[in-house]
Amino acid sequence: MQFRFPTFLLGLGAAGVVSAQVQELYQEGPFALRVKGQASNSSIDGYLSWYNLQGLPAPTFISYEPLSNPVVGNSSFEWYFNYTGLVQYKGHEVGFLLVNPTANTTTPSPYHGQPLDISYMSNSNVGIALLGIGGAFDAGFDADDKTFSTSEFDDSTYVPGVPPEYSQDLGYYNWAVCWQLSGTYRQTLSWITFGKPHNPTCELVNLLRVGL
Ligand SMILES: *[C@@H]1O[C@H](CO)[C@@H](O)[C@H](O)[C@H]1NC(C)=O
Ligand SMILES: *[C@@H]1O[C@H](CO)[C@@H](O)[C@H](O)[C@H]1NC(C)=O
Ligand SMILES: *[C@@H]1O[C@H](CO)[C@@H](O)[C@H](O)[C@H]1NC(C)=O
Ligand SMILES: *[C@@H]1O[C@H](CO)[C@@H](O)[C@H](O)[C@H]1NC(C)=O
Repeated sequence: MQFRFPTFLLGLGAAGVVSAQVQELYQEGPFALRVKGQASNSSIDGYLSWYNLQGLPAPTFISYEPLSNPVVGNSSFEWYFNYTGLVQYKGHEVGFLLVNPTANTTTPSPYHGQPLDISYMSNSNVGIALLGIGGAFDAGFDADDKTFSTSEFDDSTYVPGVPPEYSQDLGYYNWAVCWQLSGTYRQTLSWITFGKPHNPTCELVNLLRVGL
């Protein structure tokens, strides 16, 4: 099995081990992230901003703002993309999203910024997107600037006793905006692991990179 590169590169994979070699990462940004409901009757159309609860630098939470334009010059609307250049999906770089690019990622760590990761609940297929929680969720942008995620394995294909093969061809667009307890109870970016969202407030969205 190959290393899932973000956790490996962040030195967060093995307990207490910070990788000795600092991997050079490419960075793009800042850009804005637009969320647009997929259903024709969806009310979701706006941008994502990030915020902290007073006195708490992490986790950093994500807010859906029903705006027709991102607020230019407000860093809460500024997003970045880090990638190694070593992993692609259909020719598009795979890396991760982050905000706050000068903040310490963890201490000690040679990396800066707060990567986006998904936090899962034990009783739902709807995960909450959070920033700066220690991991990073694989992501990239296709030719239409739509954000995808990837996975190396698909457990629906598993056969007893036969180890599955690593794949670079598994891409997903399972973003949603849902009412969630995330800092406060509000509409936030979410990820549906599989099937119909367990949370009835979820609306499936396209997550789009938009220039600032
Ligand atoms: C959109 O229409 C579908 C099908 O009629 C319905 O199930 C859904 O609740 C509607 N969504 C919204 C956000 O109104
Ligand atoms: C930036 O945008 C956020 C989210 O809308 C808002 O809470 C904050 O007050 C804005 N900051 C400035 C300096 O305007
Ligand atoms: C980042 O971490 C370094 C090393 O631990 C520390 O010296 C520095 O004060 C930290 N910076 C911030 C902004 O927290
Ligand atoms: C993202 O990439 C930039 C540019 O290489 C780097 O300075 C930063 O530490 C990286 N952050 C993370 C979390 O990998």
